[in-house]
Amino acid sequence: MVQWVGFVLVLMSVACKTAQGKRDEVLYCSACMAIAEELKYSISQIDPKKMVHVGGFRLNPDGSLTDKKVPLARSETHLSELLDGVCNNMSEYALYEDPVTKQQSYRRFAPRSSDGGNFPDFKNFKFSGPEGSDSLKFACETIVEELEDDIIALFAQEDQRVAQRLCSEVSGHCKSGVFQHTDL
Ligand SMILES: *[C@@H]1O[C@H](CO)[C@@H](O)[C@H](O)[C@H]1NC(C)=O
Repeated sequence: MVQWVGFVLVLMSVACKTAQGKRDEVLYCSACMAIAEELKYSISQIDPKKMVHVGGFRLNPDGSLTDKKVPLARSETHLSELLDGVCNNMSEYALYEDPVTKQQSYRRFAPRSSDGGNFPDFKNFKFSGPEGSDSLKFACETIVEELEDDIIALFAQEDQRVAQRLCSEVSGHCKSGVFQHTDL
């Protein structure tokens, strides 16, 4: 009897894992893409001409030395600061189901002022329940914790395909096919 109960418990946990694994891909891929999108946006809001000294010197071709500077927006200090707050922005995302393909992903529903107040179609979003933004925030925090160094290294350089690098190549949270139809 005890063995049998144990067997059933193992079966149940396997079943749960499989169900969760499927679910997690939408959640973790979305969280990763949302992180990339939020960081890209925040960086774009900062004057690219603002530079900060990072210590050390750079050797010029003529043999002189100049202070080593990097753009403020992409400096390690600034990127760490952004990472501290980025998961709070997940409250502006919710699970979205494409009306045609029925594919699900979390999307930003809160328009930014630069969008000219373009509101998305709210009826395809789920705002409450387990699909709400709390689970996305949790996934975001997990990703930031695990990948903090990779994220900072990736965003220190300008790279048009940063979301693909972070979410597919580095972390594997998204299948590479996700990126065929997006310019992120
Ligand atoms: C969070 O969203 C606000 C409002 O759009 C934006 O100003 C801020 O830069 C975002 N923060 C991060 C870390 O992306």
